[in-house]
Amino acid sequence: MAKSLSSLQKDIEALRSEIRRHDRLYYGDARPLISDAEYDGLFKRLQELEAAYPELISPDSPTQRVGESLSAGFETVRHPFAMLSLQNSYDEGDLREFDARVRGGLDGMSPEYSCELKFDGVSALLTYEEGVLSRAATRGDGQQGDDITANIKTIKGLPLRLDGGESPKVLHVRGEVYMRTDDFLRYNEEQTAEGNKPLANPRNSVAGSLKLLDPALVARRPLRIMCYAYDSPDRQVQFHDEGLHRLQDLGLPVSEHSRLFSSIEDVLDFWRTWESKRDTLPYEIDGVVVKVNSLAQQRILGLTSRAPRWALACKFSARQARTELLSVSFQIGRTGVLTPVAELNPVPLGGVTVRRATLHNFDEIRRLDLHENDTVILERGGDVIPKIAGIELSLRRKGSRLISEPETCPSCGARLERVPGEVALRCPNPSDPEALKRQIEHFTSRGALDISGFGAETVNELVSQKLVSDPADLFFLTRDNLISLPGFGEKSADKLLDALETAKHASLDRLIFGLGIRFVGETTARLLAFSFGSMEKLAAASEEELASLPDVGPRVASAIHDYFDSEVWNGLRDKLVRAGVKFEDESAPLRGDKLSGMTIVVTGTLEKYSREEIESLIISQGGKPSGSVSKKTSLVVAGDKAGSKLEKAIELGVPVVTEDEFERMIGS
Ligand code: IVH
Repeated sequence: MAKSLSSLQKDIEALRSEIRRHDRLYYGDARPLISDAEYDGLFKRLQELEAAYPELISPDSPTQRVGESLSAGFETVRHPFAMLSLQNSYDEGDLREFDARVRGGLDGMSPEYSCELKFDGVSALLTYEEGVLSRAATRGDGQQGDDITANIKTIKGLPLRLDGGESPKVLHVRGEVYMRTDDFLRYNEEQTAEGNKPLANPRNSVAGSLKLLDPALVARRPLRIMCYAYDSPDRQVQFHDEGLHRLQDLGLPVSEHSRLFSSIEDVLDFWRTWESKRDTLPYEIDGVVVKVNSLAQQRILGLTSRAPRWALACKFSARQARTELLSVSFQIGRTGVLTPVAELNPVPLGGVTVRRATLHNFDEIRRLDLHENDTVILERGGDVIPKIAGIELSLRRKGSRLISEPETCPSCGARLERVPGEVALRCPNPSDPEALKRQIEHFTSRGALDISGFGAETVNELVSQKLVSDPADLFFLTRDNLISLPGFGEKSADKLLDALETAKHASLDRLIFGLGIRFVGETTARLLAFSFGSMEKLAAASEEELASLPDVGPRVASAIHDYFDSEVWNGLRDKLVRAGVKFEDESAPLRGDKLSGMTIVVTGTLEKYSREEIESLIISQGGKPSGSVSKKTSLVVAGDKAGSKLEKAIELGVPVVTEDEFERMIGS
């Protein structure tokens, strides 16, 4: 007999509770009880049930963490109360002064201090209504921030519904979104493998992740959250640590390292202990936070305009180490740019052994006045990647020479060039083997043609055996070529040939990105594909035409134009055509002149297009997008929640159309 809907509902709820319990065990307590495969099995079962009975999907189901993309950007939301910052302190004196100020302000009462770790991430304010996560916002200017609910919901360790304890009607939770160091390093490796720049620290990658408009992309980032402040109008607490316990009882992730102390000596001890123990934690902290525990006392002490008088951030100093410079080597990027790298006598620094440090460029070497065999001072602040902060001049060897700029390329021997107006040194040889390896890695990376099977070793072999001299040669590799490479058998060779065949039909934006034109990242590549619709049209575009696109400045326009004017492109183009690589994008708008001479303002949230897309569409029809409405505006395209610009257009009598009407105008 078929199950009744209500008994199914019960099954589904039980499955959800089970999944939530495992999320807590995994992300909260780092004590998983089941294997990843078992977890995936539960999740899949829930997905199947919900797919069969969509009426039983609830917004707080673990399957609902990934929402729709917000093409028009984040909405601004006003915080229920100011999200304050903290006063900083750096030494014992600052801490003692804080204690004296607190005691003075409390008129003889003794404070108790709640001491916590200061997580180095990005602050967020979460709101739960009737126990369900209803909103999350960034700090912004403290009064209002961005509505990042969809992104925060993707954080697996965060319950979408509070199920432990009794939940208040309204609950505001402040916490820090962070990334574990190991997750960050792995994430950075993936990024570099895909040709993107590595980030200096987990905080930057959290900030970047939270700014993404597509929650599906955010869900792939290993974000976590730690909650550290409770506020509920209907279930108030008397003490800060009472709030922390409530949060924990409600199933929210709260640090296990918070402690209560009543003397400043103990607070100082907590701070010093964590300064020396910080590397034992799986995430970065940049200090400890001291808070007066009694809320009644907090009220007496009050606030300044930006920070409470009852709390203090006690920062740690940057971790330092000294070591000897062994030599300076060079990394050659895919555009031929040389990055000098300091090869160091290995030295431990904050839990990692440092062997190398980037010197960025030769201006940096001159700024540091770096000499051969210098003893360098390495520093690691919040950054996982250490930097050379200075030089121990007293230890400089007599007669040692300044590190000088190479004149020829260390990889191919070509005479190096300085890019006009830039500090970078470049190898101009288009077939430099090192640059070529990087180009192939980029061409086959996930964001570009997404051809897996080209690991570093294979790429090295292909280049050193001269089987490829540019990325297009990959399409002419034969089965025999591949089988002759180390690690290849018949099966893996066939698999790679299949992948290459599929890549010939990749979308135009991926192909454009894969070319590795300077300054052309994935977003610009998408814009170019959308605006031109074919590689030939893009290659024929004038610099002015390129520079008129939204977000393409003169520097980028000139780089694109130079690229398509180069010998490199000419050679590559012929081979790509011969290989049968697709150069067209059928979905891109056709170019025309339906909006010729018109200045058009787009406002509000559109359903079908991102801001860049509609602006390219306007340009593709000869129009000019503009940001503000005036008497000169020819047309306003208004989407949902259009505000002051729409009002102004009506006031000035400027014609206003909807997205659909606009599409009809251009016949799309
Ligand atoms: S309390 C009104 N507690 O540090 C008090 N902040 O430098 C609000 N932070 O903006 C903050 N760990 O993003 C507090 N345990 C902790 C924290 C913490 C990290 C961040 C927070 C704040 C920044 C101030």
